Amino acid sequence: MKIPRRLQPLVDDGLIDAVLGQLMSGKEAQVYVVRRGEEHCCAKVFKEARQRSFKQAVQYQEGRRGRNSRRERAMAKKTRYGQREQEQAWLNAEVEALQRLAAAGVRVPAPLGFVDGVLLMEMITGADGLAAPRLDDVTLGAEQAVAHHHAVIREVVRMLCAGLVHGDLSEFNVLLDAAGPVIIDLPQAVDAAGNNSAAMLLRRDVDNMRAHFGRFAPALHDTDYGREIWALYEAGELHPDSTLTGRFAGDTTAVDVDELVTLIEDAREQEAWRLAREAQDEE
Ligand SMILES: Nc1ncnc2c1ncn2[C@@H]1O[C@H](COP(=O)(O)OP(=O)(O)OP(=O)(O)O)[C@@H](O)[C@H]1O
Ligand SMILES: [Mg+2]
Repeated sequence: MKIPRRLQPLVDDGLIDAVLGQLMSGKEAQVYVVRRGEEHCCAKVFKEARQRSFKQAVQYQEGRRGRNSRRERAMAKKTRYGQREQEQAWLNAEVEALQRLAAAGVRVPAPLGFVDGVLLMEMITGADGLAAPRLDDVTLGAEQAVAHHHAVIREVVRMLCAGLVHGDLSEFNVLLDAAGPVIIDLPQAVDAAGNNSAAMLLRRDVDNMRAHFGRFAPALHDTDYGREIWALYEAGELHPDSTLTGRFAGDTTAVDVDELVTLIEDAREQEAWRLAREAQDEE
């Protein structure tokens, strides 16, 4: 395809060789599939600040440190210099989050470069070798839903252990590749220790995942991983492989995953029976 204006500098610098097409345009950015040597990657072009919406809200900014105090003061004062610094800090935030999370073993696309407000990253691919589907694009069986939910919760825990809360986790910002869920879209990620909204955002992230996977595995609606994870974090007891129960303290019965799967299987069997009986009745 014709090279979009914003990607031209990357072509000129020899960072990418060709632009192959555009993925779905989100609210905040456009994502292109580009070729880099033999490899396909994604280039995320952030929209101009004016066109962007909620993610730059103050709520997300708190606790982010500027690179030096002069910049921090300027950012606070909203001078033109301050605004430019603010914009740069915003654009850097996703790259920094990706680097930090990749280093912590979280499943995110590997960041490959950041030039003129364009983020170059690994392309997450599905079974067909094309860009991976989002959670929202796939229908899951109950067991699969429980397994993927479990995997996403693990990623959330790893992120929090690395000091970050995603802040906009939803079925649109999780991709599925052959090995399971991959977390994307992190410019709004918040500093877990320095942001007063972090606890609320973490719970919202986790509850979004429960609502999504719960559509395929209703037993998940009875879990409360969000509050459990935050309580462990606050107590300084959260580790990447902490044992979680899905229950919040005070509630002592643990959710047994095997039991959950059995329950789901039973429900499915009953439903199959019911359908078979209905079919028989109609004959
Ligand atoms: N590394 C990647 N590999 C494959 N597909 C990707 C990758 N990054 C982004 N995408 C695709 O591009 C879409 C938009 O990316 P992303 O969510 O980062 O941008 P956004 O504009 O901030 O979205 P939103 O509408 O959630 O604000 C994603 O939903 C996903 O389908
Ligand atoms: Mg998105």
